Amino acid sequence: MTQLTFPPGFVWGAATAAYQIEGAWNEDGRGESIWDRFTHTPGKIADGSTGDVACDHYHRWQEDVEHMAALGLKSYRFSIAWPRILPTGAPPINEKGLDFYRRLIAALNERGIIPNVTLYHWDLPQALEDRGGWANRDTALRFAEYAALLFRRLGADVPLWVTHNEPFIQTFYGYGTGEYAPGRRDPRVMLSVAHHLLLSHGLAVQAFRAEFPSGPAGEAPCPQIGIVLILWPHHPASQRPWDLRASRFADGATNRLFLEPLFRGRYPEDVLRHFARRGIRPAIRPGDLQVINVPIDFLGLNTYSRLVTRFDPLDLIGGARQAASSGPTTAMGWEIYPPCIIETLRQARAYTSVPLYITENGAAFDDAVAPDGGVHDDARVAYLREHIAMAHRAIQEGIDLRGYYVWTLLDNFEWSHGFSKRFGLLYTDYASRRRIWKRSAHWYREVISRNGLEV
Ligand code: FCB
Repeated sequence: MTQLTFPPGFVWGAATAAYQIEGAWNEDGRGESIWDRFTHTPGKIADGSTGDVACDHYHRWQEDVEHMAALGLKSYRFSIAWPRILPTGAPPINEKGLDFYRRLIAALNERGIIPNVTLYHWDLPQALEDRGGWANRDTALRFAEYAALLFRRLGADVPLWVTHNEPFIQTFYGYGTGEYAPGRRDPRVMLSVAHHLLLSHGLAVQAFRAEFPSGPAGEAPCPQIGIVLILWPHHPASQRPWDLRASRFADGATNRLFLEPLFRGRYPEDVLRHFARRGIRPAIRPGDLQVINVPIDFLGLNTYSRLVTRFDPLDLIGGARQAASSGPTTAMGWEIYPPCIIETLRQARAYTSVPLYITENGAAFDDAVAPDGGVHDDARVAYLREHIAMAHRAIQEGIDLRGYYVWTLLDNFEWSHGFSKRFGLLYTDYASRRRIWKRSAHWYREVISRNGLEV
């Protein structure tokens, strides 16, 4: 056994998202979101469930904060539901919605748990979707207005702000394949959606700097702002030229499409060309890319696995298909591939020298409560151990990795899979909404308290 110790101050966290845990979908003035509309449409969610109640976190948040404190979390990453703050997407403010987050943030700060707050984890106010959603440039301006309002009202109490969670998923699943809300299948608007999401990020960062001018040179500013991307390491299914090309395209459409504008102020030419041949073009205006390319303080990365790609002439959009995985997989069917951590970090480092965080990593397994009342999720413990060990290796390699967040604190509403996939450190009993610590939660508490682990 070797002991791996992390640098002092390493940020150990867990992450959630508003729609996946809160419930209370129509309480205290909250407006309708695209996920409410989507889950209330029959046939969209695998088990027919909705996030109407979810984990009931809106009412049980105090208990959840106690669990976080007992775990010893250094930071908690969560998102704010835009329609709780601005029910129709634009002012006036719903003060009750704001109060909920104000209380949560205060409780975290009292316990020394750093709030890491995401402004947008896919729950657009339905009223904005009715006007075109992210395909409409105006939504980016509405987002900047919402962001500025939160910076003004809550900004100083939140050390880490994130504009968007995984713009790739919102773009491709929300507007391309329609598997996620708003459920649009319109590949023609996809690149404009991506562009408007990125533009809204840049505008929000500008609003942030206006509210919090940077500190003296050399000093880390506080609060800080960044964005969270999902990055997959891409591997070709073979060394044949068409598989290599398909894999390169897959990397372009998922990773580089976001990294390049954010850090280099341009879109990847090969990806634009590929889509243009299919009549898909982003609606870019002069000056937009400078806005998107605005400096940020950190970059968050979500990583779960890798993608192995083979060429598929029948796939008209991408010309690429994911090959079936050969190794062991999680309950999502995702290959267990621990180097995803280090490969993702290396790719990000090639674009930027800002501090990096792993803002999501974790696994779904078919957990059950055993007759002894425990949840013995050894497979998750093994998954986390191997992935965290890779994070340690990345630091040894000189990568400026500041923290790691497990996805997720407690089993919750896993989007189109409903409640059928359990990713939590805590088991959620959906009948009683009781939370039960899994073995992985006990294990993670140990990791945090020792600031390291044995491998
Ligand atoms: C990520 C999402 C998160 C959760 C995990 C499993 O893509 O950000 O909400 O669904 O996947």
